[in-house]
Amino acid sequence: MYNSKITGLGFYVPEQVVTNEDLSKKMDTSDAWIRERTGIESRRHVVPGEDTTTSMGVKAARIAIERAGIDKDEIDFIVFATLSPDYYFPGPGVLVQRDLGLRTVGALDVRNQCSGFVYAVSVADQYIKSGMYRNVLVIGSELHSKGLDMTTRGRGVSVIFGDGAGAAILSRETDPKKGILSTHLHSEGQHAEELAVTAPGMGKRWVTDILADADPEDTSFYPYMNGQFVFKNAVVRFSEVIREGLAANGLETADIDMLIPHQANLRISQFIQQKFGLSDEQVYNNIMRYGNTTAASIPIALTEAWEAGRIREGDLVVLAAFGSGFTWGSAIIRW
Ligand code: UT7
Repeated sequence: MYNSKITGLGFYVPEQVVTNEDLSKKMDTSDAWIRERTGIESRRHVVPGEDTTTSMGVKAARIAIERAGIDKDEIDFIVFATLSPDYYFPGPGVLVQRDLGLRTVGALDVRNQCSGFVYAVSVADQYIKSGMYRNVLVIGSELHSKGLDMTTRGRGVSVIFGDGAGAAILSRETDPKKGILSTHLHSEGQHAEELAVTAPGMGKRWVTDILADADPEDTSFYPYMNGQFVFKNAVVRFSEVIREGLAANGLETADIDMLIPHQANLRISQFIQQKFGLSDEQVYNNIMRYGNTTAASIPIALTEAWEAGRIREGDLVVLAAFGSGFTWGSAIIRW
């Protein structure tokens, strides 16, 4: 039995910065409302045609591979988390295999939205722990901007989300006290439609139905979010799953060196920080600059924190996420 360890990290965000002021020219919103409710000041949007979910993931992956100090041919498996894939099928995992010119290794696509990266890390960790693989490429990438309702009708959702990608290489670690100590995953499908894009899908409305109806009031293909309900569940589940992870390892809140919460809303992160009595140094947030990038938010934040020297060898790093599904999870890492 082995452990897995994060040996390389990288992220990529599109150059185009979209400020709250920019959004207020397209819809009835304001910098004050967005900052006050979410903490977001700006986010990145791709220039259409310049980037895709896959291409952003590939750019982040190249950096992570280089920092891991491995050759791309040493990658044994790909796990790609996203809710905004390039195609309905196949998923972006195989596109990464192609675009990075990897061996014909397996490629798995994870569909767990905001918890996608934690789920993907958990999958990669199990493959490495079992001894099946040595190096797994894990990517979280999202291209939200193309699929948002950028009118006043969609403002409750559209101002929150941003585009970007993050990637990690997980590699075999022989010291059982180092690396990913444990992961904890949960779901509660009874709330599936509280944060969802329900069309196109084979369940309710396919593309042909949308086209046939040609209904200007149809919003089924835009994200729907029952914001306050999601918020209330998020703060409870974030807390539970962090505690669960710490308890499983005989650790306490005081042992946390760095908490990287999924960047859903700065108010949620601040609530968690306060509840656990953590200092500003113990929590990393970047939602102010990137908005909520769903599956990409944790790997982008983790990379930035690491680049800034805020994660050092031996530190206890906790990743935690909550989102659509509902799904939530945590990862407890000894760096
Ligand atoms: O990452 C996955 C998990 N996601 C989350 O955890 C998100 C959780 N939820 C949230 O972060 C918050 O619920 C939001 C930031 C989405 C919304 O904040 P809120 O305080 O819950 O606002 P609300 O939806 O209750 O809306 C309050 C008011 C409404 O107006 P009325 O009905 O009071 O007149 C909205 O129409 O604010 C209005 N509003 C806006 N006004 C200006 C909604 N969006 C906007 C906007 N600009 N962008």
